[in-house]
Amino acid sequence: MTIQVLNGPNLGRLGTREPEVYGPTTYAQLVDLLETAGRELGMEVRVRQTDDEAEMLRWVHEATDARDPVILNPAAWSHTSIALHDALAALQSPLVEVHISNVHKREPFRHHSYVSAVADGVIAGLGVEGYVLALQWMSLRGHR
Ligand code: DQA
Repeated sequence: MTIQVLNGPNLGRLGTREPEVYGPTTYAQLVDLLETAGRELGMEVRVRQTDDEAEMLRWVHEATDARDPVILNPAAWSHTSIALHDALAALQSPLVEVHISNVHKREPFRHHSYVSAVADGVIAGLGVEGYVLALQWMSLRGHR
């Protein structure tokens, strides 16, 4: 079983994209952080990012077939994508939604997420460490 860490649009630009909102960590550093955390927890972790919604849907379908747990930062698709909601509704494995920023402190259009209704839990506003906390939760629950 592999923990699938999936990242949506514009997250490949972490570090240079609005660092005052998303922090200084680059996407490459985020991948390193999660691979290291996964090794320490004895979990196999695969981290990916896409700006293409069709590709993200394919990855969710693959995780559904493989019954892999998913940690997902849907980014802007959180607020727009019923297709992503529907794909995730079919997932039988654990799903944690992660947002680097506290979306509830920001513009009203970020306050609703189509993903939250089908997630086991949501972590928002704790920076990139939120992904590590999601991994730790999966480890505590024995999903590894
Ligand atoms: C985000 C918050 C979203 O509103 C935004 O569209 C993103 C990133 C976050 O991690 O804080 O791209 O998901």
